[in-house]
Amino acid sequence: MKKSIIVATVAACVGMMSAVSFAAETGEAIFKAKCASCHPDGGNIIKPSETLKGLKDTKKITKKIRKGGGGMPAFDAKSFSDADAASVADYIVKTFKK
Ligand code: HEC
Repeated sequence: MKKSIIVATVAACVGMMSAVSFAAETGEAIFKAKCASCHPDGGNIIKPSETLKGLKDTKKITKKIRKGGGGMPAFDAKSFSDADAASVADYIVKTFKK
């Protein structure tokens, strides 16, 4: 009886962990952890004219992430990998359409 509860709990944890490792989920998680403080809902609390809404070019977004500037900190490869930067860019394009 007890054993089956433990097995079910472990299975649920593994299931949650694998969901987070999907690329789209990673982009969202990183965005919420590192970007949403200045860009809540794709806006921009420091420079309201520079929102993330309607951006389409993921290469430009990853470049901005890596270089920063204009009040935005740079996030280099120590913050997250190129693949993760690309999934953040993907998340922005898909989420903040307007
Ligand atoms: C400390 C606040 C801050 C944080 C944290 C921050 N940004 Fe920014 N971001 C800014 C500011 C300020 C600008 C405007 C920069 C400029 O005018 O060049 C900006 C601009 C941008 C732009 C260009 C918008 C445009 O219209 O061209 C992108 C893309 C962007 N940020 C993405 C991100 C992502 C992705 C993250 C997280 C990895 C992030 N930012 C984290 C402050 C921040």
